[in-house]
Amino acid sequence: MLMSRRHFLGLSALVTIQAIRSPATFAIQSDEVNRYRLVLKPEQKHWFDEAEDPIELWGFNVSELRLEQGKPVSIEVVNRLPVPTSVHWHGLRIPNNMDGVSGLTQQPIPAGGSFIYEFTPKDAGTFWAHSHHQTYEQLARGLYIPLIVEETPQQSFNQDITLTFDDWRINQQGQLDLETIGDLREWAHGGRVGNLITTNRELAPNYELYRGQPIRLRLINVANARIFQLQLPEAEVALIAKDGQPLRTPVSQSEPLILAPAERYDLVIHCDGDTSNRLSIGEIGRDEVIDIVTFDVLDADEDSSKVFIALPVNPLPAQPLGEPVVRHSITMSGGAMGSLRQATFKGEELSIDELIQQRQIWAFNGVANMPKEPIFTVNSGEVVEITLINDTRWPHSMHLHGHHFLADLNRYPEGAWHDTLVMASGEEARIRFVADAAGDWLIHCHMIEHQAGGMVSWFRVTA
Ligand code: C2O
Ligand code: CU
Repeated sequence: MLMSRRHFLGLSALVTIQAIRSPATFAIQSDEVNRYRLVLKPEQKHWFDEAEDPIELWGFNVSELRLEQGKPVSIEVVNRLPVPTSVHWHGLRIPNNMDGVSGLTQQPIPAGGSFIYEFTPKDAGTFWAHSHHQTYEQLARGLYIPLIVEETPQQSFNQDITLTFDDWRINQQGQLDLETIGDLREWAHGGRVGNLITTNRELAPNYELYRGQPIRLRLINVANARIFQLQLPEAEVALIAKDGQPLRTPVSQSEPLILAPAERYDLVIHCDGDTSNRLSIGEIGRDEVIDIVTFDVLDADEDSSKVFIALPVNPLPAQPLGEPVVRHSITMSGGAMGSLRQATFKGEELSIDELIQQRQIWAFNGVANMPKEPIFTVNSGEVVEITLINDTRWPHSMHLHGHHFLADLNRYPEGAWHDTLVMASGEEARIRFVADAAGDWLIHCHMIEHQAGGMVSWFRVTA
């Protein structure tokens, strides 16, 4: 049996208070291009007891990647894992051949090999980088890092704290449960949900916040499938960006915040004289709220001279609201309790039993997994409207590569741009974007077991 969450909650109390890790300095400056070296390799963590065997994970050699908006980068990715991999820069609008999707935009990087990614981040904001090869396994093992693109000039926050939320499946031996990776039953349900939550790869870490100053918190859901329902700190909190793109105006938020897989929000938080000395962010579970990160609130030595001013907008293509519009629709089907009876897989019409044999239980427009031909083709510069129909009994976290889009779902702040959005069972949404980036782009569910089980396709933007 899996250990209960309560057990882990007890353990997390043992974790000592940690100072905020300063971001790794590893940029080798040159005149034109910032060069980085990212090494993907095995990683060990002592989450429970220093005396016991460490937990074996996979990870990056740095805890965060910080780039500058508009500055060209050359990132050498070195694969020191025993298996092939690739790295996708989730949410960055970059050339198609740098998108890191193995099997679509590049060959996987072999074990022991390396690959150089070169691009210029157009947008400042909160993104993340993760494996895009055998993703359901490699993400579960920990192959991700937060990716922050800094505004130029930098914004006036006194503190800027990234919070990367994950959940892991730990077995009775206190190791990552590898046996259940690929469990088809989970693929057909809500995906792989872990029994141990970490923030920044630690158990309930503690950070210090200073009163009287605007503080930026960057929230990232990197879990395979968990939809976090977050109880926010009891202070003045406002949402200021979604998926790396600033909101038109800050939206104050005291209600729980839904953060689906791959979604990000930036918040600004103000603590004043009335704010308690101790704050937290909690994950709202079925019968209890678990603190997944805590904060000590301290008085600042000096009065802050900084005031929050709205984030500068990114150079997104003009608002895709005008006509003419190219329209397409994508109907999601399949999964447990669904009505999928047959689907096309690798060009063949298969019955549900045959699909299960192939581990394919989800489909877009009746096609399971990557079709030979794109699900739609549009011309560069066209305004595209896609109607997304969730004809399943499950929520899905829909992600479009290479483009940000607007959506008509009112659970989100008005006018928010997304690269990922969660859709409830039975829901329908219209999304709009300008297809301004030529190439073959993935569209998939980011509850990553659903992607593996068929919820993935691709579209072509012709030059
Ligand atoms: Cu986070 Cu296909 O990506
Ligand atoms: Cu899904």
